[in-house]
Parts: sequence; C-alpha cells; structure tokens
Amino acid sequence: MARCFVTRRLPGPALGRLDAVHDVDLWTGRLPPSRPELAAHLEPAEGLLSLLTDRIDTGLIEGAPHLRAISNYAVGYDNIDMRAAAARGIPVGNTPDVLTDATADLAFALLMAAARKLPEAIAAVHAGDWVTWEPSLHLGAEVYGATLGIVGFGRIGRAVARRAEGFAMTVMHTDSSSDAGALADLIERSDFVSLHAPLTPATQHLIDADALERMKPTAILVNTARGALVDQEALAHALNTGQIAAAALDVTEPEPLPADHPLLKAPNLIVTPHIGSATRAARERMADLAVDNLLAALDGRPMPHLVSA
Ligand code: DGY
Repeated sequence: MARCFVTRRLPGPALGRLDAVHDVDLWTGRLPPSRPELAAHLEPAEGLLSLLTDRIDTGLIEGAPHLRAISNYAVGYDNIDMRAAAARGIPVGNTPDVLTDATADLAFALLMAAARKLPEAIAAVHAGDWVTWEPSLHLGAEVYGATLGIVGFGRIGRAVARRAEGFAMTVMHTDSSSDAGALADLIERSDFVSLHAPLTPATQHLIDADALERMKPTAILVNTARGALVDQEALAHALNTGQIAAAALDVTEPEPLPADHPLLKAPNLIVTPHIGSATRAARERMADLAVDNLLAALDGRPMPHLVSA
C-alpha cells in the first residue's frame, strides 16, 4: 500500500479503485492546493495524481523523496517539470484520446459561436433589444465552405478537421515539423485559425503581433489548447483595432483570467473557462486513465499512457 496525494475530487468511480489498494490523501478543496500545501502533502507521497492547475516544479519534485509516479489528469503536461521528473526517474502519465472529441466539439462550437455572433445575439434578446427582424443586425461570417487553418495537427487538430469536412471547409494545417513559412501561409489564407499545439518553449506566443497582423481582417482566432500560445496583449490590440474580426478562447494566460483583465474589454471576444474536455463521459474516462497510470506505476508496471521515462 502506497501513500498517494490526489489534488482534487474527480468525477466518476475511478478514485475508488485507487482508494481500494492504496492510502489516498485526497485534497477536497475547490481551489488547488497552494505551493506550500502541495509540498507538505507530497513529502510523504509515493504517488501523485495532479491537475493542470498544479504546477509541479523542480523544487516540489526534489522535496518529495518518496515520489515514484506522477499521473496528470489532462492530456497536456506543461504544468510538470518533465526534466526534473526524468532526472529522478519518475514516470509521468497523461490522459490522451478520451477527451479528443469533447475538445474538438468545443473548438467547433466556439468557431460557430464567434462566426455567428451568438453571445451578442443572445444578450440582445435578454436585454429586450429584439424589437423586430432587421436585415442588418447581428451579421456574422459564413462557416460553410470557408478556409480553416489548424495549427497543431495531432489527435485534436485532426478531429477538428473531420468536423470541418461536414461544413465543406478547405482545411490547411501545420504541426511541429512545419516551417515558419507554412504557418505564415496558413495564417494569411485562413478565415478561421484554430490552435491545437501543445505548449512548449517553441510554441509560446506562436500567435504574436506579427501573426495577428498577417491574419485577414475578417478572420477569427479560436484557441482550445493553452493560453500561452497567444500573446494576449497583441490579441487585445488586434481586436481593439479591428485587425481581426473576433477571437474565441477556452484557455488564457493566466487562468482564471481576472474579471478586470484588459483582454476582457476587447470587442468580439468570447472566453470560456477551460471547458474543452468538460463532458461527463470525457472527464470520467480521464479519471479512469489517470488512475490506471498511477496503479500501474506504483505496481512496478509501465504506465499505459506514459509521456516520459
Ligand atoms: C488537457 O487535458 O490538457 C485539457 O486542457 C483539459 O482537459
């Protein structure tokens, strides 16, 4: 029986399987544990089940002498210092595949909502501003037949491309092997640019002032990957000056975005609170995978979804 720190309650029955065979220390707060709280709970732990809101840095890993497995409840693992984990020989696992469709659905929902100005139209109805049918009110962009640029053509990017087929969209894509010219070409030609790349030093602020300047003035940016892929100051400028038509973000930097953050004052902006994988089925399957990873590693077996040695 190993001591495991689980940093939040998870939906579904999966944690019961961990609790049945290990000594689970479950963080029951709504907010994530602070760094000192993480350090204190990690000190005696052999296993860690973390969330993307837990920054597992070198100091925390070094201060956890018994730690021998980290299972992240997310497909992304940029919250974990992978080098520090590898230096200690601690395997890190993630939860791929099971959230692909949920996240691709949300990317498409945001694309559609921004294209057809749904927040503005819904707000008008609630404000009593639906006075008649008006030929020139709430005019949005056509999605059917438009060009979609997908940045990051992994599991989720491809799933978005499959959805775009139903809308007869021309799909362009780039991934980590593409050169800067390919990204510039995609950005210049796309009516919609949807981000699906992991956050790495190479993708940090991939969408910067230069990229935003290259976009069509009618283009819409969608981000369901990681907030730091976009230079938000440059994005606020692009929206405020009409350099691009709209943006729909499920991820921001930081998260949560403070209510008085300047970006939130920009026009034609939709922000949702990082809900890409938020279907009951996806979140329960993520819990299953996260527990499977931890059980395997604590048992001396390879994690089924291992992202590093
Ligand atoms: C992930 O898994 O990385 C998403 O951002 C949250 O589910």
